[in-house]
Amino acid sequence: MASVRSTVLFASALLALGCGGPTGPMGPTGPEGGMGAQGPVGATGEAGLPGPAGPSGPSGSSGAVDGGLPTSCLSPCHGFNGVVEQWKTSTHYAVAVSSLNGTEVASWTADGQSCGDCHAIDGVQQRVAMQVGLTQPDAGPPMSLANGELNYRTPTGSLAEAAYSGTAKVAQVTCVTCHSVTDATDPHRTGLPWAPGSFPLRAPSGATDQAFIEKSASSDGGTVTGTGLTLGPSNACVWCHKSRKDVTNYITASNNLGSTHWGPHEGPQTDVYSGQGGYHYGGKLYGTSTHQQKLACMDCHMPNVTGNQNAPNHSFYAQVSACLNCHAGATSFDISGGQSAIKATLFEMQAMLNNTTPNVLNTNILTRTTGNPLAAADMADGQFKLDLTNPALKALTADQAGAIYNYIIVARGGALGVHNPKYVKQLLYDSFVALAGHAPTTLVRP
Ligand code: HEC
Ligand code: HEC
Ligand code: HEC
Ligand code: HEC
Ligand code: HEC
Repeated sequence: MASVRSTVLFASALLALGCGGPTGPMGPTGPEGGMGAQGPVGATGEAGLPGPAGPSGPSGSSGAVDGGLPTSCLSPCHGFNGVVEQWKTSTHYAVAVSSLNGTEVASWTADGQSCGDCHAIDGVQQRVAMQVGLTQPDAGPPMSLANGELNYRTPTGSLAEAAYSGTAKVAQVTCVTCHSVTDATDPHRTGLPWAPGSFPLRAPSGATDQAFIEKSASSDGGTVTGTGLTLGPSNACVWCHKSRKDVTNYITASNNLGSTHWGPHEGPQTDVYSGQGGYHYGGKLYGTSTHQQKLACMDCHMPNVTGNQNAPNHSFYAQVSACLNCHAGATSFDISGGQSAIKATLFEMQAMLNNTTPNVLNTNILTRTTGNPLAAADMADGQFKLDLTNPALKALTADQAGAIYNYIIVARGGALGVHNPKYVKQLLYDSFVALAGHAPTTLVRP
């Protein structure tokens, strides 16, 4: 527990305290003249930041302002629209997951559970250090654990996922979750103003560093290889925003669903974006799109903020401004009606999977309860990501199970096709055909 405390306290100190540093005490009127020499930040003042925070004239000594922060702390982090305030508007700050159910959440970080790998404050830190729990120590660790892979095969041949082995609780995704904060990089300890590159990421993110989704390249021999991507700093997102399932080995010749949570986990954006993480039908080609070739997560979700020293936007929400270079004049994400079209196909497919329009299994494949079909209200709300699987389904062929898998990665990705427009259409088309026995009316395969 001691280490839990210190992690959490450290994180909140990072957020709450000012950059102390060599500029000395915060006394509002400043100590005697002798200290003056120490106050480099007081010299010019960064024009126009927080007006009242300007230096206090010739006798001002420490650069501390109004009981506030030295100007060197304000940008890019602690300003009015700085990184910290941006982050506070994000879902990462909200702890959406941990507020769902306190009791259940405690079990997520219990021994043997993998949830803390992504849902604990130090999940990435533990994984980078290769400190994880393994079901069968003889079998692990995953081949590319240090690059984010979590799946491996046990000696008895089943698929397993490396467990969280830290001692923290489910928490926010905060600064120290993504950034490697040490005595040397923590500005609160070094007292140095920010310089580009001075606040590094934990996930390896150099030009040739890979980050892994779980999907194995080939099921030949049952090897669990994962698939490496090289997305630079966007590698940081891949560590958590993926299906957690190795679809190549997860789907077999005959599949019993057995759970309402069969299939990909929430947030499988990388599986879609990469054009590689879906279930691929034999004999079909799956293509990439310009988005996948030219852009990565950060380009759309963390564009640089010119008014904030070009530091990347930490609200993490996709920004329409990031589309304008290529889609001139765009005012929403629904460019050329692309999202509306995918939404129409998801509605058509949802009705088919619910057996509202017949599917080849002639039963409901989706549920939002423990197995009952979707109600009319569920089918009207467009919240496809809430759809779960009917646990009673048994002996599905690989192509049938793969179709359900593909519906879920698109539904839970949340971008209605934007992550990879062409690939999403291909996946949905082939999957629809596999379970309906005929083509959808809302989509032509590109
Ligand atoms: C590989 C990283 C990873 C692991 C491991 C993981 N999760 Fe998640 N989980 C995520 C991400 C990312 C999201 C958010 C997805 C989004 O909002 O698009 C999420 C979302 C969720 C949600 C949905 C919350 C909501 O607001 O709807 C639940 C519930 C959840 N996770 C539970 C679990 C449980 C239980 C485990 C362990 C059995 C687990 N997760 C393991 C990454 C992970
Ligand atoms: C979900 C992951 C994530 C979280 C949480 C996060 N960041 Fe970042 N941050 C990034 C990424 C990705 C970059 C881009 C790094 C790059 O381009 O090399 C970045 C860049 C930065 C930079 C510029 C880095 C540099 O060395 O030039 C600063 C400063 C920064 N973040 C501060 C913060 C602060 C403060 C918080 C907490 C309020 C925070 N970040 C939370 C992912 C995150
Ligand atoms: C340590 C795991 C982790 C990392 C790394 C991470 N995320 Fe998240 N992300 C989550 C979880 C978990 C959630 C759900 C909210 C929560 O519990 O904080 C989430 C939520 C989100 C959401 C909101 C989703 C929604 O449904 O509202 C966006 C957007 C997002 N993340 C983008 C990113 C981007 C972009 C990166 C890379 C810079 C990134 N995330 C890195 C775990 C992570
Ligand atoms: C071409 C730009 C683009 C790229 C590249 C991109 N995204 Fe997105 N992303 C979007 C858009 C647009 C949305 C939909 C946002 C909305 O509807 O509010 C979205 C949605 C999301 C969401 C869900 C947000 C929600 O509210 O449900 C998450 C999480 C996310 N993206 C993560 C990622 C990750 C991780 C990557 C990289 C693997 C990535 N994105 C790459 C544009 C992009
Ligand atoms: C680097 C240039 C580039 C950027 C930036 C970009 N796109 Fe695209 N986008 C394209 C191209 C080119 C296409 C045409 C399809 C293809 O080549 O893959 C496309 C296709 C699309 C489609 C599919 C349209 C259809 O007819 O189905 C949507 C939707 C879309 N983009 C949304 C976005 C959104 C939203 C953003 C910003 C968050 C964005 N794009 C940023 C280049 C870009």
